[in-house]
Amino acid sequence: MGDAWVGPEATSAPPPTRSVGRMSLQQELGALAVDIALEAGALARRRRDEGVSITASKSALADIVTEADREVENLIRERIAAARPGDGFLGEESAAESGTTGITWVVDPIDGTVNYAYGIPSYAVSIAAVSGDPDPRAWQALAGVVHAPALGELFHVVRGEGAWLGGRRLKVNAELNPAGSLLATGFGYDPATHAAQLELLGRVMPLARDIRRIGAASLDLAYVAAGRLDGYFERGLHPWDHAAGVLLVEEAGGVAVGEPGSAPTREMAIVGGAELVERLSAIVFDDSTRNDAAPSGEG
Ligand code: IPD
Repeated sequence: MGDAWVGPEATSAPPPTRSVGRMSLQQELGALAVDIALEAGALARRRRDEGVSITASKSALADIVTEADREVENLIRERIAAARPGDGFLGEESAAESGTTGITWVVDPIDGTVNYAYGIPSYAVSIAAVSGDPDPRAWQALAGVVHAPALGELFHVVRGEGAWLGGRRLKVNAELNPAGSLLATGFGYDPATHAAQLELLGRVMPLARDIRRIGAASLDLAYVAAGRLDGYFERGLHPWDHAAGVLLVEEAGGVAVGEPGSAPTREMAIVGGAELVERLSAIVFDDSTRNDAAPSGEG
């Protein structure tokens, strides 16, 4: 089971990479991600305290963007460009830009925007640095951070060096719990996809002791890494929702898959311990009962 909840002090604990002499590339990227996420999280929180104004709806009426989403993404983008001018950028709220270094930053400035707008503290800044093609099927994530400023928690990860909450190393629950698994999921903004998502949830329920719908995919993933959830699945995620969180899960000893043979994509993301992921995948991709209402577009 997950470690006890750790309060705001987790935010201020330095990442373990700070103590080494000469940093590797991924350590440098991880340290930069942490610095920027702390600044971005503070800005998001300040704007939340001042009151939130919704600027627009995107894919559906329920898919909102606030002024803070854009302002926080601009801040992150500026900080990355100043520190590493040749890197590419793929963010939720602004145009993608390819770089010259082979590194791309994949950013959700405020994951859990609806929570943010309603004053629910489960929202997070999610920042990952990936190498290779900026597509989840092709990239290799090198470092990432998921920072929930209103909860005072910062999850960080460097490829090959584990996943961390402050100074505590994270571990996915590997064993199947005889009482059933504590699972999380999410529902896309498009009402046309809800019936299929509920039908899938119904098929998954026999594996579950209970279900959580936290409202921020990056936190669902971080909580699986921390053992606070046994597993998570969702259809319709964008790359910025899962880039940092999937690396957290993998570095915490978990498994993250999409469709059979694929990394997590817009089509599907399933994460947890190996055995649970296998069981979830068997249900999700059981063609005899599958009801397709896939979101369109890549991811
Ligand atoms: C959303 C949240 C939500 C998930 C959606 C995402 P946003 O991200 O992560 O939990 O169910 O699929 O789009 O829009 O709040 O950044």
